[in-house]
Amino acid sequence: MSGWRATVYTLFPGMFPGPLGHSLAGKALAEGVWALETVDIRAFACDKHRTVDDTPFGGGAGMVMRPDVIDAALSGAAGPGPLVYLTPRGWPLTQQRVKDLAGGAGMRVLCGRYEGVDQRVLDAHQAVELSLGDFVLSGGEPAALALIDACVRLLPGVLGSEASLEEESFERGLLEYPHYTRPPLWRDRAVPEVLLSGHHERIRAWRFAKAQETTRERRPDLWRAFASQTEEED
Ligand SMILES: C[S@@+](CC[C@H](N)C(=O)[O-])C[C@H]1O[C@@H](n2cnc3c(N)ncnc32)[C@H](O)[C@@H]1O
Repeated sequence: MSGWRATVYTLFPGMFPGPLGHSLAGKALAEGVWALETVDIRAFACDKHRTVDDTPFGGGAGMVMRPDVIDAALSGAAGPGPLVYLTPRGWPLTQQRVKDLAGGAGMRVLCGRYEGVDQRVLDAHQAVELSLGDFVLSGGEPAALALIDACVRLLPGVLGSEASLEEESFERGLLEYPHYTRPPLWRDRAVPEVLLSGHHERIRAWRFAKAQETTRERRPDLWRAFASQTEEED
């Protein structure tokens, strides 16, 4: 039992565990491999209307989540690990960051809504600001579900075969090679011959070449890092 714990601060606690209650993460949750706590931010609002947001100083569209309400929620219901605030302004989430988070006692995840959260409460609580990618979601909850899922599958005992982690995308700084299964011929499309050869060394070389080709094409940023690391090693 790892005892890893995710504490989620949200205006929509009903969205959890959601997908995390199913499949591998759900089984591990039921078995107590990890624990999930949701904290309803609105319960920490202090006026009779339960207000959690206000208009932005400096003008502009939308509303901003108030620092006093968020602070009360964070201070009133603590959990282990760093505080992560999910935001498109954040540092890009990487597999290395996921590994670091999964390797600790847990994490606290703050989900934004509206235009986001007052910066002062993020600074005061030393939040690590992370982004899922260059797109804008309507709220932090789907991002929190994705982040927690990525962490939970790395906890000891959650995945059946540890070996399947080693070849995954990003493990060697490359995207993964493509996969194929039965039938060997489907709608005139044949599985690459080499994969049926039983020749492990040729299969390994083909997969490595495909991983490089895909990374070079789709992710020049990863490719540059991989290529310069390979040069250094040579
Ligand atoms: C509508 S968004 C706010 C967007 C913000 N005004 C901006 O332009 O950066 C509301 C909330 O969704 C979450 N969110 C949206 N896109 C995200 C992303 N790419 N990664 C992580 N969280 C995201 C954040 O918690 C954010 O506070």
